[in-house]
Amino acid sequence: MAYGLPYGMASRNFALCALIVVFLYTSLGQTPPKSEVLPEFLALLENHTVTQGRDVSFTCVVNHLQSYKVAWIKSDSRAILAIHTHMVAHNPRLSVTHNGHNTWKLHVTNVQPNDSGTYMCQVNTDPMRSQTGHMKVVIPPDIMDLDNTADMLTTKENGDLLLRCRATGNPEPVVIWRREDGRNITLRNENSVKRTARTFEGEQLHLRGIQRQEMGSYLCIASNGVPPSVSKRYYVNVRFKPLIKVSNQLVAAPVDSDVLLQCYVESSPKALNTWYRNNGVKLLADEKHDISEVTINDYAYQLNLTVRHLDKSDFGTYTCSAENAFGKMEGSIRLQELQISKPTTVSTRNTETIEKHTWHKQTEKKGKKHSYVLDKESDLIPKNVGHTTPMSRRNLSSALPNIANKSRISAFPAPAPAPAHSAPTQLGAQKPPFNGVKSLRDSRLCHVGLVVIVLMILIHD
Ligand SMILES: *[C@@H]1O[C@H](CO)[C@@H](O)[C@H](O)[C@H]1NC(C)=O
Ligand SMILES: *[C@@H]1O[C@H](CO)[C@@H](O)[C@H](O)[C@H]1NC(C)=O
Ligand SMILES: *[C@@H]1O[C@H](CO)[C@@H](O)[C@H](O)[C@H]1NC(C)=O
Ligand SMILES: *[C@@H]1O[C@H](CO)[C@@H](O)[C@H](O)[C@H]1NC(C)=O
Ligand SMILES: *[C@@H]1O[C@H](CO)[C@@H](O)[C@H](O)[C@H]1NC(C)=O
Ligand SMILES: *[C@@H]1O[C@H](CO)[C@@H](O)[C@H](O)[C@H]1NC(C)=O
Repeated sequence: MAYGLPYGMASRNFALCALIVVFLYTSLGQTPPKSEVLPEFLALLENHTVTQGRDVSFTCVVNHLQSYKVAWIKSDSRAILAIHTHMVAHNPRLSVTHNGHNTWKLHVTNVQPNDSGTYMCQVNTDPMRSQTGHMKVVIPPDIMDLDNTADMLTTKENGDLLLRCRATGNPEPVVIWRREDGRNITLRNENSVKRTARTFEGEQLHLRGIQRQEMGSYLCIASNGVPPSVSKRYYVNVRFKPLIKVSNQLVAAPVDSDVLLQCYVESSPKALNTWYRNNGVKLLADEKHDISEVTINDYAYQLNLTVRHLDKSDFGTYTCSAENAFGKMEGSIRLQELQISKPTTVSTRNTETIEKHTWHKQTEKKGKKHSYVLDKESDLIPKNVGHTTPMSRRNLSSALPNIANKSRISAFPAPAPAPAHSAPTQLGAQKPPFNGVKSLRDSRLCHVGLVVIVLMILIHD
């Protein structure tokens, strides 16, 4: 009973099927058989996404074409482009080639935006047979030159700047902004509420209440997925009155020693820097005074004044001064004599060296303080890294051969290493048997020698 229903259905289906076959056979048999086989397409026409200016071609493969003709038509404009290999459209960038067999190609050179659309390969049967393919023309992004914006934008501190990048391309490009040194962009709204972000998206970057830390290069980068992306650089220049910070306002040093006095300056544009004594005399670089300055970033630098072989007249107040168009600032350092009790000459020397040592330490500390500032300065970091890595590498590499040698030696008495190893190991594996035999022979010789000696002693006795 379980088979009854399916069997019944199957037999009914079979009967239906047979009926259809018979019907088809008779109905086909009744129509007059066509000797002619109609043209047929062997493959679909391709779709193309092509960058402006490139060349592209559509390939139409038709079998059994006989006396029919292949035509190319731009479907959207209904313009006939070509029939067989004869060009109908007066467009020098179009051409058709035929391989003499079943393949027709429509070539488009130096593709332009108005070439995009639907292309049809048509055979003039009745009714006509055709197939279509699409062409999408894409354009890499470009940044338009807005003549009213210079590459260098300058503002006073707390001022506003509007950076703009108009980008064209197809599809519509996305414009993002970032700082060239990788630091975050500071964005403030109308109420000076600030946030920072690595990137900002939009054609306009409005920098409000700009602070000196925001000085530097900004890039707008336009991309739309069609390479290459393009970028434009703006330099944001922030101007302000000089600022001086003196971390050690009171410095004590013994007579005859050298002392380093330092001022940290922030200024944009760069200030005119000078050192003065309290008597108003401007200090110049000479045998007594070493004056130098080192740039920390776009707007900050360090002024160093080294006074050599201190004598009594060198103690007093030193002033560093920085002046630019926006104002002037000064910082003072008092240099005092450090009295050293001298019970013996030897101990004097000792304290002197200790003093020098502590000075060194202090400057080192200061150096570190600055390196905190320097940390952000990307081009200064690699130098440090460059210093440490080769040393540790050298240490590693010099340690490695020893380890390798040792492991080879320790593996020596072990059974022959697996033959599946690389050539060098196999070479190494060949050596042990020789050496092993040799050492075995040596120990036997030694035994024999001992026995002989014992025998000789016995015989002698
Ligand atoms: C071309 O794109 C159309 C629709 O966009 C799609 O129907 C057709 O299959 C595509 N042809 C090929 C060859 O991928
Ligand atoms: C298509 O654009 C090109 C270049 O812009 C132009 O030379 C050509 O006349 C245009 N063709 C048509 C059909 O509009
Ligand atoms: C920079 O901005 C990103 C968000 O874009 C944030 O996650 C990150 O903490 C910021 N870094 C600094 C140093 O502010
Ligand atoms: C100033 O002194 C500091 C600390 O000794 C040193 O690191 C720096 O290189 C000096 N700068 C110049 C310009 O001599
Ligand atoms: C080099 O290795 C020695 C020990 O082998 C170690 O004491 C020393 O600190 C290492 N130096 C560096 C720079 O790693
Ligand atoms: C360590 O290996 C090197 C070359 O591989 C060799 O010249 C040197 O003699 C070996 N040293 C020892 C202790 O085996």
